[in-house]
Amino acid sequence: MQPTNVLIVVASETGRTLRMAEALADGAREISKTVTLTSAAEARNEQLLAADAIVLGSGVHMAGMESSMRGFLERTSPLWMQGELKGKLGAVFASAGAGGRGGGELTLISLLATLAEHGLLLVPMHNRLDHFAAAGCHWGPLAETNPGATGPGPTETQLASARAHGRWVAECVARWSS
Ligand SMILES: Cc1cc2nc3c(=O)[nH]c(=O)nc-3n(C[C@H](O)[C@H](O)[C@H](O)COP(=O)(O)O)c2cc1C
Repeated sequence: MQPTNVLIVVASETGRTLRMAEALADGAREISKTVTLTSAAEARNEQLLAADAIVLGSGVHMAGMESSMRGFLERTSPLWMQGELKGKLGAVFASAGAGGRGGGELTLISLLATLAEHGLLLVPMHNRLDHFAAAGCHWGPLAETNPGATGPGPTETQLASARAHGRWVAECVARWSS
């Protein structure tokens, strides 16, 4: 099996999506040799070029992705001009507020749309993955956090869902790269 490289880029103002990213990275490390986690503010285009799979995660702000993620994605346009990311694998995850109906799915779809614009092959969350029903949707893991709950979230179930998806993405990239 070829050594594979998974890059996770996350926008997380209060740490919840970051905890999902860390769980997703743990899952990916079960398969992939190199797993890198970086913030959207610090992510560089060279890291995208070096990756076999790119996973984007964002907190939901005003029914969409965080502005630091949008800014990062706009900085990738020179790569788009040259089609340099086509054929890599891509996946997404997000953390929304209580109820998750304030744009959680829209955020996931919007992240996927940018990856599709770059020509990535999208890896959705299939419904046999751990905790799909409780903490995911077909676009990717979606944590619905509740600031009024005892802990800030995500819950252990939501983190397990992110871990399962990370492992699945890494498994897909290993198959694709072989
Ligand atoms: C400025 C701002 C806007 C937000 N807007 C939404 C929203 O439109 N819909 C929603 O479900 N949650 C919204 N939230 C809640 C966050 O999405 C939620 O707390 C999320 O888990 C934060 O992720 P983070 O800790 O990674 O930043 C908002 C939070 C902030 C700070």
